Amino acid sequence: MSAKSRTERWYDENSDVENRRLDDGWLEFEVTKHVIQSCAEKLGLKKGRFLDVGGGPGRYAIDLARSEHTVVLSDLSSGNLELARTKAKESGVELDGFIHANALDIALHPTLSASCSRFDIVLCLGPMYHLPSYADRTQALENCIVLAKPGGYILAAFVTVYAHLRDVARREPGRLANEWAFYSRYLEHGKYERNTNMDMYHMYPENLDEDLRGVEGKVEVERVVSCEGFLGFGVAKELAKLTDGERRTWVDVVMRSADRMECRNSADHLLVVMRKK
Ligand SMILES: C[S@@+](CC[C@H](N)C(=O)[O-])C[C@H]1O[C@@H](n2cnc3c(N)ncnc32)[C@H](O)[C@@H]1O
Repeated sequence: MSAKSRTERWYDENSDVENRRLDDGWLEFEVTKHVIQSCAEKLGLKKGRFLDVGGGPGRYAIDLARSEHTVVLSDLSSGNLELARTKAKESGVELDGFIHANALDIALHPTLSASCSRFDIVLCLGPMYHLPSYADRTQALENCIVLAKPGGYILAAFVTVYAHLRDVARREPGRLANEWAFYSRYLEHGKYERNTNMDMYHMYPENLDEDLRGVEGKVEVERVVSCEGFLGFGVAKELAKLTDGERRTWVDVVMRSADRMECRNSADHLLVVMRKK
């Protein structure tokens, strides 16, 4: 890998923060796992081959390995990968590999170049949040597609502009007016240049087709899911304190409408389920 980008440095220094992210984001975690499970069922997978690109400290990878799937975890941040190694060990599961790689050239990585068209399911639940350039997002998606089997799935997640605006409204509502010079530009293009610690990109759900234009013809988009359903991150976070049974009922209700246009168009995290042609 070449010199560290600021995004890589940030995750290296904050892997613990990232590992806890899905505690508050428990609904995103559960909904995403549901969708992954439904893809595995469609493929009839009992023990599938997964590649988790930008898998961070491995919350999804470890969960999948616990269900006896074979999982290769890759990430831009060696700090995240180190934490994933520790967490996998603590959980008593083995991952099939830890690969320090950038989604932009992962298909050329020495340990993966022989794995083209080998994975049943490729997860890309993170890199899109950090690739402000359309060309780079297309490149990362193309690499995931190359690594998936024909007929296999590629699941890519995006963060929306609405997620950020709701977060600002909750935590620091005056900021929108006070920093309007920044926000008026941000609302145009979704490039979150205010944070100098990392590159960030937030999309408008209604622009999804445009964002996927570069991979048109290579995949069929089967589903687009709002990972926080109609609740949104902030409300879902408050439900983290419920019992497991109480939370399960919320997940069931959210899943009933998570694919509906009104939910996806105001989602926080948008999960795009693509099938390789
Ligand atoms: C918000 S975290 C998500 C981690 C995990 N996939 C999840 O959903 O909980 C974003 C992850 O993407 C990784 N990432 C960002 N840009 C990347 C890139 N260009 N290539 C590979 N990984 C990248 C980061 O290092 C980080 O681990």
